[in-house]
Amino acid sequence: MAEFGQPAIFEEEVDTLLIGGGMACCGAAFEVSRWVEKARAEGKDIKVKLVDKAAMSRSGAVAQGLSAINTYMGENDPADYVRYVRGDLMGIVREDLVYDVGRHVDDSVHNFEKWGLPIWKQSGDEGKRLVDGGKPVRSGRWQIMINGESYKWIVAEAAKKALGMENIEEHVFIVRLITDKNDPNRIAGAAGFSVREHRIYIYRFKCCLLACGGAVNVFRPRSVGEGLGRAWYPVWNAGSTYSMAAECGAELTMMENRFVPARFKDGYGPVGAWFLLFKAKSMNAFGEDYQARNAGDLKTYGYDAYANGRKMGTCLRNHLMMKEMKEGRGPIFIDTQTAMAKLAANMTPEEIKHLEAEAWEDFLDMTIAQCGVWAGENIEPDKEMSELMPTEPYLLGSHAGCAGLWVSGPEDLPGVPDYYHWGYNRMATVSGLFTAGDGVGASGHKFSSGSHAEGRIAGKAMVQYVLDNMDHKPELGRSVDDVVEELYRPVRNFLEHKDYTTAIDVNPHYITPKMFQLRLQKVMDEYVAGVSTMYQTNKRMLELAERKLEMLREDSLKMRAKDLHELLRAWENYHRLITAFAHMKHIKFREETRYPGYYYRSDFLDIDDDNWKCFVNSKFDRETGEWTLRKVAYAQLIKPDESEPEGMSRLGSDC
Ligand code: FAD
Ligand code: ADX
Repeated sequence: MAEFGQPAIFEEEVDTLLIGGGMACCGAAFEVSRWVEKARAEGKDIKVKLVDKAAMSRSGAVAQGLSAINTYMGENDPADYVRYVRGDLMGIVREDLVYDVGRHVDDSVHNFEKWGLPIWKQSGDEGKRLVDGGKPVRSGRWQIMINGESYKWIVAEAAKKALGMENIEEHVFIVRLITDKNDPNRIAGAAGFSVREHRIYIYRFKCCLLACGGAVNVFRPRSVGEGLGRAWYPVWNAGSTYSMAAECGAELTMMENRFVPARFKDGYGPVGAWFLLFKAKSMNAFGEDYQARNAGDLKTYGYDAYANGRKMGTCLRNHLMMKEMKEGRGPIFIDTQTAMAKLAANMTPEEIKHLEAEAWEDFLDMTIAQCGVWAGENIEPDKEMSELMPTEPYLLGSHAGCAGLWVSGPEDLPGVPDYYHWGYNRMATVSGLFTAGDGVGASGHKFSSGSHAEGRIAGKAMVQYVLDNMDHKPELGRSVDDVVEELYRPVRNFLEHKDYTTAIDVNPHYITPKMFQLRLQKVMDEYVAGVSTMYQTNKRMLELAERKLEMLREDSLKMRAKDLHELLRAWENYHRLITAFAHMKHIKFREETRYPGYYYRSDFLDIDDDNWKCFVNSKFDRETGEWTLRKVAYAQLIKPDESEPEGMSRLGSDC
């Protein structure tokens, strides 16, 4: 029987592997199955497998449920959606990819409703499905309200049914992608281990979908002590998408971008429903509207479009809040009770009770810890305001951020430059490696629904890839022994050295995953624009960060694992480290402050369109440890319209 230190090895060959079980992979599972069935009817057998480090029903960012679907077109034109995303992400997005999500996303939402997700309807339309013309309750132009505690469960169930449980492996953490023996720019396999049993899994395949979500806990969080597990994005998404892609030679894009959400303090409760649906206002410590007060400040940065107080994108809203805090007029409050009182003004007592329930349910559905903070601090949202706080940074590609992989886009859109399209839709620069959701760079604001839709887009293209390469036999570029040796190195480090000292955590021969994580977070926080410098950095700080991260990379070989849980933590932290490297390198390369409110290059405080209105792409060489960065031209495909006055195509956001 396999035991710790001597894992059993399971090898399997499939045609395509879906790595991750979140929104993107659930979308892919659903779509792939449809095309596999079609191929089967034509006599071609395609084998698909899905691996998730957790249990699919509650894995990924939607694990706790959600209260809204943030991307639903309905009556909107996808071209306007592109304008909105472009404005929110400061003018630099892959408009082909964003448009592609926009034109497909509604079908995913219609399926969610068919599978059982309750979507709020306007009065008179209750019980009428969206697809039959039912009008949703919109919180914003793009967002619709749901009763979404079981959202992930519902979406995962459909994916499981489509694939069949025999083709799904849960609790398997993928550590490495392996390129092909005969072509280093082609993907051939992946290796991981079970987080429950002493097993290593080696997969060979023609192509794979790498969709392991974004990166959390790269930066020192605001939470401390026992609260450390509390973050906004899910702590179990550890940058696996970006690091595994980078380490097999795929090109990354916009890794300088990050998301710093303004959240209810300490519980990390999202603000969307409060600002958009309940129409709550935020204010400084003295009850002043700091957005109006600071509008002129935007002008000094060159954001003329906002001097007249127009709506603005996410990072600029943060900028105004941070200025307030830096200048000592914090804390920032969100006035929940006035908002609720206004809504309740014309309501019956029964309706008011319902409103109060909704205020709590928004968080009970999606961020239960926020209810814990309210209960623990005796805060009733209809009687008292709550504090808001900008959180530690997260790297992601599906929310109000756009870090990720550089992928090939759709081929049927007019005006798309050649370098946007070189192969199958959503395929990275390594042949056979696909991604979606948080994995796709330069195209944010997909959210849960858009990530599912993008998984479907990728899934369809992957089946075509398999069909076009039916005779290809993947051969791993590394021996299985070599891979096993690497994956279990932390276990060996422990077993070989554990008796050297009497205190298990203190040992000159190894470093615990937790210590490693704290070191990484300290470097990122203090030098790469974390909360302790109020999101500021400069060239010199980044050089120091690089030196320290390089040493941490050396020490990563010394990480120990005393059990399977630590083995998981060790590799998660390694993935975080490579992701952190990419982030630091990109911020160093881009000599401007493109995202004020997300981070500041204090040595280049302006937005410099002349030199930097472009993508930044990077490649990592695992053998030498070298990163190569380059600028890639941005192409505007969707013209600004009259809703975007001069400057707005660059900055504006029509929420
Ligand atoms: P995820 O859904 O996070 O899936 C990642 C998957 O990868 C998980 O299954 C994980 O277990 C797996 N995985 C990770 N690493 C590995 C590995 N190494 N090996 C194997 N498997 C791995 N969107 C909305 O539309 N509306 C909202 O109201 C909304 N609110 C949100 C509130 C919160 C608190 C959060 C955190 C997110 C919210 N979002 C919302 C955003 C939405 O959840 C994400 O955009 C979406 O889940 C991204 O999909 P994904 O497939 O890329 O990643
Ligand atoms: S959530 O995904 O964790 O729920 P959040 O609450 O920030 O995130 O955002 C939900 C949606 O509301 C997103 O589409 C976001 O862009 C939008 N949103 C949040 N706050 C505002 C605001 N003040 N003005 C306009 N849109 C906002």
